[in-house]
Amino acid sequence: MKAIDIIRKKRDGLELTKSEIDFLIDGYTNDLIPDYQMSALLMAIYFQKMSKIETVYLTQAIINSGERINLDQIDGIKVDKHSTGGVGDKTTIALAPIIASLGAPLAKMSGRGLGHTGGTLDKLESIPGLSTDLEKEDFIRNVNESKIAIAGQTGKITPADKKLYALRDVTATVDNISLIASSIMSKKLASGADAIVLDVKTGSGAFMKSLHESFSLAKEMVDIGNEMGKRTLAVITDMDQPLGNAVGNSLEVIEAIETLKGNGPSDFYELCVNLGVHMLILAEITDNIDDAKKMIENSISNGSALRKLEELIENQGGNPKVVNDYSLFKQADYKTEVKSIKSGYIKGINAEMIGRAALAVGAGRETKESKIDLSAGIILNKKIGDMIDLDESLAVVHHNDMSKYEEAKELILSAYIISSEKTAPKKLIHGLVL
Ligand code: URA
Repeated sequence: MKAIDIIRKKRDGLELTKSEIDFLIDGYTNDLIPDYQMSALLMAIYFQKMSKIETVYLTQAIINSGERINLDQIDGIKVDKHSTGGVGDKTTIALAPIIASLGAPLAKMSGRGLGHTGGTLDKLESIPGLSTDLEKEDFIRNVNESKIAIAGQTGKITPADKKLYALRDVTATVDNISLIASSIMSKKLASGADAIVLDVKTGSGAFMKSLHESFSLAKEMVDIGNEMGKRTLAVITDMDQPLGNAVGNSLEVIEAIETLKGNGPSDFYELCVNLGVHMLILAEITDNIDDAKKMIENSISNGSALRKLEELIENQGGNPKVVNDYSLFKQADYKTEVKSIKSGYIKGINAEMIGRAALAVGAGRETKESKIDLSAGIILNKKIGDMIDLDESLAVVHHNDMSKYEEAKELILSAYIISSEKTAPKKLIHGLVL
């Protein structure tokens, strides 16, 4: 078999076989196929697309490039949740303790973010002392004893995805549905979950900007999961404005804690309830949507979800007192307001621009080597549908460098679309893909 023949076949729009895809992925992982040939193949895939079965073969080949995590030693049905990512997405930090407090084992492997803010691991590590670097035995013991552990993905799963993603990033081939779906699902499936709930974001702050594309990506991922024997479903959720009010690592953790105290922003709370219901049903904790909803509401009102978060923090070496004393988080030196330059109704908030503003003050990584400022970020005081007066506060920027604030301020002002017409609040849940 020769790489050039397979590249030509894809270039001409023909379907690749399982053995051809295995040959390419195995060869690329082991440095037998060079970047220039893989780049050509990725571009051919980008234009010619892949069929469903090719995407399943690609996902399997990526899984087979590395280790699979075996979670059989953990009792119960392990349901994982994955978000395709967006601005202000701190869902795991609130949702994982909710689900675990209701008896479903939550064995979560998360990643770091290369983007506007950190990933779940970065966010959690803003809690003083907390480590996500767990030995496998500790990870399994914590889940069996406390129902919850959140650790970093081991470097040994899906090495092909790491190489491919880095190449896609520099060859303008990231945004292809088959490539995204196989990349995400290979990591989820290699991480050993029994069932998967996907939160596929749609809108200005998401990979997929249109509803149509988001449904297509969701369907592709759900089909891959089900084809590989794992119950999988996807909820399509709004990312046309940031989720909740906080953007930035420690600020998002504080917002997740507030949500567990019953004081969370309404969109974020709604998302946690919606995804949580599906997780509880897939984990077979209940088979009834209304019961699942009530269980989640109770876990917040009776404090058990918050206690579960404290337990997670303590188990992983962090200081659980942070849940009642936010001054224990590293604080930014400056908290500077951005005031509105006009009055009216908030019609839109470009989530990507808010993400770039957070990145400008150091809340995210521009390159893998960048160091995140965990205290930096933005609190949005207005969301779509709200009214604002001239000079009223739109947002507060938490930062440690006045020069960076100016760039963030310009981005925040450009992100907000203010209109004289009354605007309805944005719908959060756009649909379900089974
Ligand atoms: N996230 C991933 O893990 N892979 C992609 O291709 C896109 C988003």
